[in-house]
Amino acid sequence: RTIYASQAFSAVWSVCLTGLSPCQAWFHRSSALPQSGAPPLPQSSFFPSVDGVMLPPGTFTNRVAFITGGGTGLGRAMTTTLSHLGAQCIIASRKVDVLQQTAEEISKATGNKVHAVQCDVRDPQAVSQCVNQMEEMAGLPDIVINNAAGNFVCPSERLSPNGWKSITDIVLNGTAFVTLELGKRLIQKQKGAAFLAITTIYAESGSGFVVPSASAKAGVEALYKSLAAEWGRYGLRFNIIQPGPIRTKGAFSRLDPTGAFEKGMISRIPVGRLGKPEEIANLAAYMSSDYATWMSGAVIRFDGGEYVSMAGEFNDLRRVTPEQWKMMEAMIRSTKGS
Ligand SMILES: NC(=O)c1ccc[n+]([C@@H]2O[C@H](COP(=O)([O-])OP(=O)(O)OC[C@H]3O[C@@H](n4cnc5c(N)ncnc54)[C@H](OP(=O)(O)O)[C@@H]3O)[C@@H](O)[C@H]2O)c1
Repeated sequence: RTIYASQAFSAVWSVCLTGLSPCQAWFHRSSALPQSGAPPLPQSSFFPSVDGVMLPPGTFTNRVAFITGGGTGLGRAMTTTLSHLGAQCIIASRKVDVLQQTAEEISKATGNKVHAVQCDVRDPQAVSQCVNQMEEMAGLPDIVINNAAGNFVCPSERLSPNGWKSITDIVLNGTAFVTLELGKRLIQKQKGAAFLAITTIYAESGSGFVVPSASAKAGVEALYKSLAAEWGRYGLRFNIIQPGPIRTKGAFSRLDPTGAFEKGMISRIPVGRLGKPEEIANLAAYMSSDYATWMSGAVIRFDGGEYVSMAGEFNDLRRVTPEQWKMMEAMIRSTKGS
């Protein structure tokens, strides 16, 4: 019976899983992005990405933007776009050499200053010192993007307290420390700002094998929705982007170390391709800009349709061929009574 297409789907997954040893990603530090074995689906030609900067030049002139994890991946892409639009950016994370190189490259490309500040967001004192440095260099920010995160795949029965703590400390505590430190100072100075948190689509559904990340990202969403309600009166707004899969070294080397999942991911994305860093950067810039001052407490899913594609119980019927539909229709029509 063709209606059991989901069994075939499970089999595909089993094949995808072969070769991925549990917790393989835990200390994985591959120097290269895993090779893509997965081309986009044909329908992706209907949905080409537009990689150019969307907002008008000068949108962020005289604005200061603070981006955690701005040295790599999506953080780097968001910093590049904000900088192109005139913002003075401060990027912060642990690896100061990576930050400095990124800052130099972006400044050179855009002509606008990007500052690099070392900061481990798990440490509230380090966060406070980082904000002191930022105040001296550029003043308090108009835009804050909480993007820093850690994650790895692991069966939950193999999770250690340290594994749990290392992820929840970066993602939930780190976001809270940055947001509270900046929020208090902005309120004190009576300065408005736009906060953005980068979470994930499974913050909403939960997900096996990334349980600390799912739990911490759900906490970040609760934090941002709560503060959107509480701190609007101080001129602060809070929004969330839930990205679907976008190829970055940081994410893909720890979540898909063998490259085996990528094909499965693309096959369930209705748009038929992965996202691009430039696409999320345009969305983040819009949500942080004055074009979006009426947006607060919003959670924007940005995933090419992946979430709904995984959620719908009957979506696997996409695999049923027209011939098989004819047969199924005849079977359904011939059914009498209950
Ligand atoms: N790419 C995707 O498919 C995808 C999908 C859904 C959600 N996301 C989210 O998008 C965001 C960016 O991810 P990405 O793909 O761009 O990966 P990434 O390049 O690995 O970015 C993570 C950043 O966080 C920083 N970081 C980690 N621990 C930190 C700490 N303790 N203190 C300060 N900074 C720290 C890292 O810098 P250092 O190592 O220098 O500290 C790094 O720059 C994350 O929030 C991630 O959960 C990504």
